[in-house]
Amino acid sequence: MIVLGIETSCDETAAAVCKDGTVLSSVVASQEDHARYGGVVPEIASRSHERLLLETANEALSRSSVRKRELDGIAVTRGPGLMGALLTGVSFTHGMALGLNIPSIGLNHMEAHIFANFIAYPELQFPFLCLLVSGGHTQIWRVERLGDYELIGETRDDAAGEAFDKGARILGLGYPGGVEIEKAAEGGNPDAVAFPRALYKTDAVEFSFSGLKTALLRHVELRGGTLPQSELADVAASYQHAIVDVLLSKLRLAIDKTEVSTALVGGGVAANSLLRKKAEADFSDCTILYPEIALCTDNAAMIAFLGEIYLMRENKVGHTHSVVPNLRLSS
Ligand code: KG4
Ligand code: ZN
Repeated sequence: MIVLGIETSCDETAAAVCKDGTVLSSVVASQEDHARYGGVVPEIASRSHERLLLETANEALSRSSVRKRELDGIAVTRGPGLMGALLTGVSFTHGMALGLNIPSIGLNHMEAHIFANFIAYPELQFPFLCLLVSGGHTQIWRVERLGDYELIGETRDDAAGEAFDKGARILGLGYPGGVEIEKAAEGGNPDAVAFPRALYKTDAVEFSFSGLKTALLRHVELRGGTLPQSELADVAASYQHAIVDVLLSKLRLAIDKTEVSTALVGGGVAANSLLRKKAEADFSDCTILYPEIALCTDNAAMIAFLGEIYLMRENKVGHTHSVVPNLRLSS
């Protein structure tokens, strides 16, 4: 079975081809136009997707040496994400699928982040936990099987990726914030600033990052509104550690509560090397897995891969599914 995947939920225009569970090609056209605004501008994202989609899809097909008429279906993210951005991908997919007379498969982006781990670890066994950490989500799920998910806990306010992005903006760094803070933190002392770790000592699998962002803002204000360059590495390292400490302490709590000792980490923040290193060191008694970096941040390989699974089950297939910007995984 051969599936083309299309991803346009935020600011990456991506297309990929998957055949019998193997990713043949994966193309991600990152939109550069947002950097100068310090975040994603929805209208620019939609227009850029429109401009880039056809050539990105053609590039994915050409790199895989698959011809359009060999496709069995086209999978696309229908949510969660930015309304206009999602519409470009879903409209493109419906049009192409109708033209080729093949099914269109509408998928949940977060579910695709979870199942991206099966690309790297095909032998993965259910049940497992998944720490989903992206620009809009910080959640821990118990995954019983495909389509059977229990929410163990989530953030009360900002997502971890959002904390990175807002923190980077406060520090005058670029976007995406996680990458920039990680770079700025190199060589810094993580104990230099005692940033708050909200809900750290509680027994609840819950996160809160809005106070951390405010603490960073106050710290910078106390330094006169701009941090001296000599302090940047220490502050970035302290901030990054505060986020990672909370994420991993709550993952530990979730593992203890559920007694499920295999956990995956998915979503853009899973690309963070401190998170990966610390998870390896702190969880030697469990199995912690994360996909390669290119599969953590937004991509269409995960969409094509999950699309093929659903197509084989003839589930979520048709030409009528529409976008749902606040689509949630059911629990
Ligand atoms: O999954 P993703 O690419 O898009 C969404 O579905 O939201 O996640 C984007 C988020 C951004 O907030 C970005 O700052 C964060 O992932 N991110 C990182 C790193 N790379 C991307 N956060 C920490 N460290 C990184 N290396
Ligand atoms: Zn994502």
